[in-house]
Amino acid sequence: MARIEFLMCAIIILAHFQQCSCQEVVQGVGVNWGLLATNPIDPHIVVNMIKDNGIKRVKIFDTDPWILGAFAGTDIEVMVGIPNDQLKKLSKDMDEAEDFVKHNVSKHMHDGGVNIRYVSVGNEAFLKSYGGSYIGTTFPAMQNVQKAINKAGLGDKIKVTTALNADVYDTSSDKPSGGNFRADISDVMKQIVQFLDENKSPFLVNIYPFLSLYQNEAFPKDYAFFDSSSRTITDDNQQYTNVFDANFDTLVWSLKKVGHPDVSIMIGEIGWPTDGHHHANPDNAKRFYQGFLKKMANKEGSPLRPGPMNVYLFGLVDENLKSVAPGDFERHWGIFHFDGKPKFPIDLSGKGQDKWLIGAKGVRYLDRKWCVLSQDVKNLSAAYGSLSFACEAGDCTSLCYGCSCGNLDVPGNISYAYNQFFQMNQQSVEACNFEGTGTIVTKDPSNGSCVFPIEIYSGGSMLRGGIHIVRSMLIGFVLIFLTFI
Ligand SMILES: *[C@@H]1O[C@H](CO)[C@@H](O)[C@H](O)[C@H]1NC(C)=O
Ligand SMILES: *[C@@H]1O[C@H](CO)[C@@H](O)[C@H](O)[C@H]1NC(C)=O
Ligand SMILES: *[C@@H]1O[C@H](CO)[C@@H](O)[C@H](O)[C@H]1NC(C)=O
Ligand SMILES: *[C@@H]1O[C@H](CO)[C@@H](O)[C@H](O)[C@H]1NC(C)=O
Repeated sequence: MARIEFLMCAIIILAHFQQCSCQEVVQGVGVNWGLLATNPIDPHIVVNMIKDNGIKRVKIFDTDPWILGAFAGTDIEVMVGIPNDQLKKLSKDMDEAEDFVKHNVSKHMHDGGVNIRYVSVGNEAFLKSYGGSYIGTTFPAMQNVQKAINKAGLGDKIKVTTALNADVYDTSSDKPSGGNFRADISDVMKQIVQFLDENKSPFLVNIYPFLSLYQNEAFPKDYAFFDSSSRTITDDNQQYTNVFDANFDTLVWSLKKVGHPDVSIMIGEIGWPTDGHHHANPDNAKRFYQGFLKKMANKEGSPLRPGPMNVYLFGLVDENLKSVAPGDFERHWGIFHFDGKPKFPIDLSGKGQDKWLIGAKGVRYLDRKWCVLSQDVKNLSAAYGSLSFACEAGDCTSLCYGCSCGNLDVPGNISYAYNQFFQMNQQSVEACNFEGTGTIVTKDPSNGSCVFPIEIYSGGSMLRGGIHIVRSMLIGFVLIFLTFI
């Protein structure tokens, strides 16, 4: 009898351990969760998915109460963000900063509330492409928000920082020891670094080996990953076998040169996209993440900063409304598809196993309907105007050469664009007109790796619903206009 009980107990314990081991995540690994999508998944479903996968740290880009509310009562550590367009206001006026903290931070800091640990004041505010717009406001805004947080009695719990792109330091020399903060922002970077040092806040930097490869076809591909050393750089007695380490240590050198060598560094964003460019695919993404997570699990750190690291993967789900100015890959950074289905095996425990993440549960799809080019259309040039319209307003970032839908023939191409537009407009009948060249079908037109998606129901706050209605109305007008010309 006792033996059976013992056996039962052992089985229960074993089952328990098995459950835990499939959700193991390397310590220090979190994810970025962005919501620039036509139909974002309901936040409660997303937070459950985050929990199911054992992820304990999340970075978001604003303080949307709809999103933050979903974290209430969990012990997930949250980093919130303040968008760049708020910096001016917060930099000028202490009252604004106090108001912000009161309504968007303190409100959530109670038993059963949200475990907010960091506030990123601005997001990549010093990007060269912003032409210096936020150079004057970012640091004063950081100071004011920190003061307001201290005043609210939260200074010990919540740290203020600012997420910066790795372009704040010069990486052109290849050698980390050549690193230095960019000349046009060197004064403000010195102030920020000193501030971070004094407040024991981390320097938050986004590092993208994918972009090294994207920006330069001659870049040695293996150097973007962690599993090969076809290229090695020796610098100051250190060996570099991957561009991530070299980039990271360029920052370490830059900090040293401004007299603050001990500021901690956190990676705000790191990841690999899966579509929108011939180097952006699930195989490369898997290779990148497996190598990176293994390195994290081994606490390798970088040559100058060995040890554990804190990082946020970018990102959780695809976002079909992101600007494609940086490139078509921008909408494909998710480790999950837009609907919360995992894209490729990724082992968050860093053991390099062929493991799949746990997908979102309870996502509801719109009807099984697609919009395609009507077979009655024989003269395709009649559809070209509609194609470019659909691509401009919709999302054609999977149609490029080497991308998931790059193999489609011309009618397939047009159908893909039509369907994207149709789905992004909640399958409204008017969104499949295209001057009479579109038709709604119920047979899945997907072709191999090229998936014609079906949109999902969103969580739908009032605001988001409103945006959709306005969008659909606009589309209606444009379509009427097109039929008249
Ligand atoms: C802070 O919260 C208030 C009230 O909920 C809201 O109106 C405001 O837009 C929020 N500010 C930011 C920067 O999210
Ligand atoms: C196809 O349509 C275009 C204009 O839409 C027209 O100029 C062209 O002549 C047509 N081609 C044929 C073969 O009918
Ligand atoms: C489907 O894919 C195959 C193989 O890539 C391609 O030859 C074919 O043209 C595609 N079909 C359509 C409708 O685009
Ligand atoms: C399909 O559309 C994309 C984007 O508009 C374009 O780059 C590509 O050349 C097209 N392919 C074909 C076969 O028409």
